[in-house]
Amino acid sequence: MADFETIIYEKQNDVGYVTLNRPQNLNAYNIQMRDELYQVLGAIKDDPEVRVAILKGAGERAFCAGADLSEFLTAPSPVIARQVRWERDVWGLFLSIDKPLIAALHGYVLGSGLEMALCCDIRVASEDVQFGVPEMGLGIIPAAGGSQTLPRVIGRGHALEMLLSGRWVKAEEAYRLKLVNRVVPREELLPTVEKLANKIKACSPIALSYAKQAITQGLDLSLEQGIELEARLGDCLVSQPS
Ligand code: COA
Repeated sequence: MADFETIIYEKQNDVGYVTLNRPQNLNAYNIQMRDELYQVLGAIKDDPEVRVAILKGAGERAFCAGADLSEFLTAPSPVIARQVRWERDVWGLFLSIDKPLIAALHGYVLGSGLEMALCCDIRVASEDVQFGVPEMGLGIIPAAGGSQTLPRVIGRGHALEMLLSGRWVKAEEAYRLKLVNRVVPREELLPTVEKLANKIKACSPIALSYAKQAITQGLDLSLEQGIELEARLGDCLVSQPS
């Protein structure tokens, strides 16, 4: 795969590692990162050698401090800047991947950084993590699915409070809100996530894909429809050649 400027993509032992790599700008999400992430996510989706992927941020200070504000300043308005940024449906692609995605979160996880983390299936954070949704302060609303994914993860009231007040949430509260599955010391973040990825990748890829579909798609269905979905996927699994 091509060398990227804003992302490092590596494959090791069936695990895809995606590192947001603009540490000097706290891994802020710019147009180039959008284009590169789009390619990398496509590769993860289609490559049978990748069974699970880990998303992380380079540097000591941030997973991602949100959209690149310097691009806001070069466009006629923040809204237009954002429109350009979202021309590629990175978020649709993220959510269409039927392999488990794990976010390893440290430092600042703001705006689209948080939205990226919410597109992942499992979120593990280090003790220094800080989550925030600064969009309202800039006169915009989330545009990477955050207004839909955040309440689905932490519930309507907490999502509205984070969004409307702009209040940041630190590790302990994030765990309490179920925004993250686990909080670990900084030096244990990657080893913890890798251990989890190794455990997950030992399962049959097709079973992993169906389990993810059953849970993620089922959440948007009634219980009855969800149970039908589970039965249908279970039948497909049984009829797969072993
Ligand atoms: N876009 C572009 N550059 C960013 C950025 C962003 N979202 N967030 C941080 N940076 C850059 C800073 O401009 C700075 O660059 P410089 O060293 O060339 O001046 C560098 O990253 C370090 O950030 P700095 O602000 O100096 O660190 P800090 O510890 O004082 O503050 C934050 C950290 C995260 C509180 C602060 O950077 C911030 O509020 N960032 C913007 C968050 C935001 O509103 N994101 C948009 C959401 S839609």
